[in-house]
Amino acid sequence: MNITMNPSGGLVQSAVNAPMTVDIPDSFLNEALQFREMMMMYTCAIREVKTKLEVLNDDLAVRYQRNPIQMIKSRVKKPLSILEKLKRRGYPVSVQSVAENLYDVAGIRVICSFIDDIYVVAEMLARQDDVNVLMVKDYIRCPKVNGYRSYHMIIEIPVFFSDRKEKMRVEVQIRTMAMDFWASLDHQMKYKKDLDDSGEISEELKECAEIIAQTDLKMQSIRQKIENRANPSRL
Ligand code: GTP
Ligand code: MG
Repeated sequence: MNITMNPSGGLVQSAVNAPMTVDIPDSFLNEALQFREMMMMYTCAIREVKTKLEVLNDDLAVRYQRNPIQMIKSRVKKPLSILEKLKRRGYPVSVQSVAENLYDVAGIRVICSFIDDIYVVAEMLARQDDVNVLMVKDYIRCPKVNGYRSYHMIIEIPVFFSDRKEKMRVEVQIRTMAMDFWASLDHQMKYKKDLDDSGEISEELKECAEIIAQTDLKMQSIRQKIENRANPSRL
């Protein structure tokens, strides 16, 4: 297929800025269109799961007079990261391969106040009859060696498009505010590849992860004491 492009990107043509014709193979154009459609589908899948989480939060707020979810963040994986992951894992580079092999193109991060909120939200999401849980990684009960803590779920949900229903996969990471605080600093360190760290920073970070885990537990126990005093019949 021939596509005429104006190199200046503008509408005005001049002798210097003459339009050029680029010969784009149909197969490439097809793949590009399919890719754009797939990204739209993942964006919609995020919207569906986000709504589910917001509904849970609203309902729990009415029942218990507090919001277990503090914040919901989301992102669709960037095309370069998708390409890099496919190559790193030795998968073919195609739209079909992304759909089959990658589980984290659509990602949602749920930030809760307390550790027990994480399990309440995860359980309520998993119980919904249109949610299929494909994988769970509980890095809270089994933290990573570097101290990383978070509850990860890969879920599959149906999304209704104009002419069909598609099962879409979404990665849901659920963590406390303190865990999120730790993970963002750890993430920053990973990107500073030239950092001169003879293990000292990693050790300090790991120490912080332990302190944060203790603090999370303590905060939860304080909250429970407050609730019990405010409402002794719940004991
Ligand atoms: P990816 O290839 O990174 O997607 O990892 P994975 O497929 O092995 O899955 P895993 O569940 O272990 O990690 C998925 C995501 O969790 C990552 O992309 C990060 O967002 C987050 N994560 C996992 N481990 C760490 C960690 O040690 N530090 C931080 N900051 N984030 C982590
Ligand atoms: Mg990932």
